[in-house]
Amino acid sequence: MSEAVGGLVSLEDIPGVGPSTAEKLRNAGYTTVEEIAVASPIEISAATEISENTAAKIIVAARKLANVGDFETGDKVFERRQNVSKITTGSGELDRLLGGGIETQAITEFYGEYGSGKSQLCFQLAVNVQLPVSEGGLDGSVIIIDTEGTFRPERIAQMAEAKGLDPMEVLKNIHVARAYNSSHQMLLVDKAKEVAKKMKNNGKPVRLLIVDSLTSHFRAEYVGRGTLAERQQRLNKHLHDLIKFSEIFNAAIVVTNQVMAKPESHFYDSTAPVGGHVVAHTATFRVYLRKTKGDLRIARLVDSPCLPEAEAMFKITERGIEDGRK
Ligand code: GTP
Ligand code: MG
Repeated sequence: MSEAVGGLVSLEDIPGVGPSTAEKLRNAGYTTVEEIAVASPIEISAATEISENTAAKIIVAARKLANVGDFETGDKVFERRQNVSKITTGSGELDRLLGGGIETQAITEFYGEYGSGKSQLCFQLAVNVQLPVSEGGLDGSVIIIDTEGTFRPERIAQMAEAKGLDPMEVLKNIHVARAYNSSHQMLLVDKAKEVAKKMKNNGKPVRLLIVDSLTSHFRAEYVGRGTLAERQQRLNKHLHDLIKFSEIFNAAIVVTNQVMAKPESHFYDSTAPVGGHVVAHTATFRVYLRKTKGDLRIARLVDSPCLPEAEAMFKITERGIEDGRK
């Protein structure tokens, strides 16, 4: 999925898509060939008046055009992976644990109990993504979906200042929306795409999307065993929408998930945290955070595809996230 394709090819270039079909697709929020290429027929049909059959044909044609969804040779994957970039967390030790920082084209999940530093890490990344590449950033802007009303611009300003940045400029590059329920939260990913599309060709493209927290609304709205399957299905769709976003914009996705502390276990107990195995199987990097003495925190990388399970120490100070052993 090359970035140029999204900007240059219009929906009318898809064989079988005329002006009126293109209009229906656009009205439903499908504005690029890539978005159609990675959609499902049921999804398109539900959002437009296009039949599932026709939608399926359009998707196949869009895939050819956008060159997604086919088998590809390893060297092509290698080439796309060359575009994977990393954002520094502010702690060298935590960066090393993650193989160099938070990756684009991937979902990183921070999970841990209340006060473990999930939101603080999100704030720090919202600042750091704006840094030049030479300083561990991506010269990009950020979108934050805030589900708990815990976004704190004052705290971000403090972190920006500590990095020698103009706090107001930093805040201008942060697009934040409060999600009022899980449906709204899911809708905001579509809105985020619109924002990211607009920003694509300006100086600060969106390179980071944060959902803090991923699971709080789902947890509150789906209580009781009978609703579990539906909750997991919707969470699964939400996560896949986030993955699509990360691939289309070569952006990093960071999500948080609160879990109760289980002192006897460092591992994710699939019966306790919301999302359980759905989140576990979709997130590329899963980092368990826990409090230790004072401002120190321990991060543990749990089942990563290519990195060893290990721990890093970092610290939360007035300046933000820093190395713990200094
Ligand atoms: P929940 O959202 O409640 O699940 O917690 P969380 O994991 O998001 O916790 P959060 O990231 O908000 O961490 C809060 C903790 O960060 C506080 O308890 C403090 O220890 C630390 N912290 C926050 N702001 C500051 C600050 O300005 N200075 C210092 N030194 N520490 C701070
Ligand atoms: Mg928080």
